[in-house]
Amino acid sequence: MKKCKKTVDFIKDLYKKDFVALHEPVFIGNEKKYVNDCIDSTFVSSVGKYVDKVEEFISNYVGSNFAIAVVNGTSALHIALFVLGVDNDSEVITQSVSFVATANAISYTGAKPIFIDIDKDSLGISPKSLKKFLESNCYIEDNKCINKQTNKIIKACVPMHTFGNPCRIDEIKEICDKWNIYLVEDAAESLGSKYKDKFTGTFGKVGVYSFNGNKIVTAGGGGVVVTDDEKIAKRIKHLTTTAKKPHKWEYFHNEIGFNYRMPNINAALLLAQLEKLDDFIKIKRELHNKYKNFFNKLNIEMVDEIENARSNYWLNAILVENKEEWLECLNNNKIMARPLWNLLNELPMYKNCQTDELKNSYEMYNKVINIPSGVVF
Ligand SMILES: Cc1ncc(COP(=O)(O)O)c(C=O)c1O
Repeated sequence: MKKCKKTVDFIKDLYKKDFVALHEPVFIGNEKKYVNDCIDSTFVSSVGKYVDKVEEFISNYVGSNFAIAVVNGTSALHIALFVLGVDNDSEVITQSVSFVATANAISYTGAKPIFIDIDKDSLGISPKSLKKFLESNCYIEDNKCINKQTNKIIKACVPMHTFGNPCRIDEIKEICDKWNIYLVEDAAESLGSKYKDKFTGTFGKVGVYSFNGNKIVTAGGGGVVVTDDEKIAKRIKHLTTTAKKPHKWEYFHNEIGFNYRMPNINAALLLAQLEKLDDFIKIKRELHNKYKNFFNKLNIEMVDEIENARSNYWLNAILVENKEEWLECLNNNKIMARPLWNLLNELPMYKNCQTDELKNSYEMYNKVINIPSGVVF
């Protein structure tokens, strides 16, 4: 494990630390000012100006007509699917290479996930595999995509931009459009990433970002849904705020809503972080280049942005043959490293879900290791 030892030294030298975490938040802007302002005003909870400011910032930044702030990325995905009418008569295509929240959000609606293989370079849904699956397993009736095996409607497809690296989202969109399937982008990890000069999260009917503590910018916990569709935006806002009809004092809720609104104090922290987003992306892209030069010399491949993509490089990843040995070596030497998530189709609650052969997913599961990627000065 000579290469691993060299890697340990390189990373410790980069971060000038004895223990290097996978990803730590960095607070160097207006975080304390905005959070204190929130506390002083007493508006720390479900009402306040920072929620509006975050929504305005994100819709301006990514160029979507609307942005709705919610409690986390999981609830953002759930509400996105819910408003598109995904229910227990539906199925939703996604990738087995993702954090469990992607499949969980699908399940909250009552729908079943179907897992399709990824491309090895982007780690996102493979357009070729998606097309092949639909052509061999589905047909269109009354403008709906019907799965021959289950007779259920495939209502949505949720590709994910893994570690911030954009997948081939334009090709995926074209296939979804052809099959009358809603495209919902899980851009939880990829705020600020672009594909063909357009921000990830803005290709589909609805897109979703996460602001968990480990993301490129954080709200402590939070999520945002973006869409260009006014009707959908209004419905998401209504449903995520307990479906209460505005009134001077009455508590009239016209349907079963959700308490998914982002608290103002989280929005205050997030606004300060968002002000630093472009600086963080610049630093992370420089960090990726440093890693790339280093691993090139060791003949170790990295996960890289594909052609036409501009990644935020939220997390860097290397491809190795002896994954367990690398994980032992790095972690034993106080360099936090983690494998790819266990494939979702291998988890007990999803093991009976329909899949294609997932060849690339298994191959990448056996090779990918995430290495420290926090903002470094
Ligand atoms: C791909 C992906 N989807 C969804 C989520 C869920 O976001 P949250 O943790 O904010 O609920 C995360 C991250 O946590 C994620 O990485």
